[in-house]
Amino acid sequence: MLGRIPKPEDENWDQLAEWDKKYFLRPIFAAEEYVPMPIAKTEGSYLVTPEGVKILDFMSVLHCAGCGAYHPKIAASIKEYADRFGYIYEGGFIESMRPRVVKFLIEEASKGDFARVGFANSGSEAVEYGTMIARLYSQRPYILTRDFAYHGWTHGAVAFTRIPYLRNIAVRPVTDGEPKPTIAPGTGMFSYLAPPPFCYRCPIGHDYPDCKKVYNGMLPCVKRTKDILLTLQPEIGAMITEIVFGSCGVWSPPPEYAPQIRKITEETNTLWIDDEVICGFGRTGKWFAYQLYKNIKPDILTFAKNVTGSHVPSGGVLVSEKIAKWFDELRWWHASTFASHPLAMAGAYAALTTIKEEKLIDNAVKMGKYLEDKLEGLKDRHKSIGFASGVGLIWGIEFIKNRKTREPIVPTDRHDFWAGDISKYPAKMVGAECFKRQLLVSTFAPNNVTLMPPLTITEDQVDFAIEILDEAIKLVDAMVK
Ligand SMILES: Cc1ncc(COP(=O)(O)O)c(C=O)c1O
Repeated sequence: MLGRIPKPEDENWDQLAEWDKKYFLRPIFAAEEYVPMPIAKTEGSYLVTPEGVKILDFMSVLHCAGCGAYHPKIAASIKEYADRFGYIYEGGFIESMRPRVVKFLIEEASKGDFARVGFANSGSEAVEYGTMIARLYSQRPYILTRDFAYHGWTHGAVAFTRIPYLRNIAVRPVTDGEPKPTIAPGTGMFSYLAPPPFCYRCPIGHDYPDCKKVYNGMLPCVKRTKDILLTLQPEIGAMITEIVFGSCGVWSPPPEYAPQIRKITEETNTLWIDDEVICGFGRTGKWFAYQLYKNIKPDILTFAKNVTGSHVPSGGVLVSEKIAKWFDELRWWHASTFASHPLAMAGAYAALTTIKEEKLIDNAVKMGKYLEDKLEGLKDRHKSIGFASGVGLIWGIEFIKNRKTREPIVPTDRHDFWAGDISKYPAKMVGAECFKRQLLVSTFAPNNVTLMPPLTITEDQVDFAIEILDEAIKLVDAMVK
């Protein structure tokens, strides 16, 4: 017995499942379908069941544990700091870790592109924080977001989330075919919508790269976005984007998109909030995904997840020099009890230095290329795969009815509400088969399986995952002509 925590082998897992089913207000599942899966511990890139079965984690648990679901150095730092601190408030006090974390984020990770760091407790809170800063600074209430975007679940952040089923809605597991979603009144306030750069099935009817000819090189989706900004200029304070959409089934955006968005936001005096909650800290092969492009930087960057390797909760914002200077002259009255909690800062410093010392970003680049080659092979072998697209260690495999028409298998695709029977969604079928074979993949879009292994992943582990995906995808091949 360590402290008050029983060893996994001493647990009565059936009893624990019973308590959980009875008292836990679950996300995702209706009560009757909830079957909690016992996990005894996490170990490197694996989740380990009480029976000792090891499940290879190819989604960084929830797109977050980028240094492995358990990393001994991060865990050791948190344990050590827990022996020194219970709690200390961030306003006015310092301990040993936060000054090191902010210095690292400004000087090393973002190489001076930002001037200050503020902390929150999650990705959604980071988005609340970033959009609140944008509103205060710009004195404009609205934020421009995009179809298919995910920016969190809290009441402010969910306004910018535009994946229908992830907008905090509730649906029934048994339906008469109509999803009949229930949504909290007020969700979606203060946001406008721009088209996403989904070139495989362009939502505004163009073809990449030919579409660049229409407006002298400007992508039509960017032109549409600019028009929205021009029309609504006095109301829109900021546009929020992810560089790579993370939670709606991944694909790589065209290389022109982010630089052009930076340009039009500057031209229209709109702040650009780059949400790097998933993309940050090495996921795309850079410390931050905006660094994939030359000479662009956001006004505000939101982060969370891998900042601590997800071993303890934390998140926050990076702000540009001009915003920092503006705040420097003000007393900004707000208080968050747990923001920059000492244990979060110990976890962040340990994760950041681990990413650096173990050269995990170099590994993400190397393993990303290795994975890309393997996914090309997978695409050649499976007629149900429309594309395998991504960068670094964030990849999506898209399932279609046939390659010529690019027709999605679940017709509602990324606008689906996930009501009723979802067991025949290609993502769910592949996800369930992989899990049976000890591989965890991500299934957040009906027709897309997403792969986001930890940055620590090895060639052998990639080979293992591809072998299993090869088998699992046969189930989808059997559904298409
Ligand atoms: C881009 C992005 N922003 C915000 C969030 C919300 O983060 P959290 O779940 O920590 O609240 C997520 C979560 O996946 C995300 O992917």
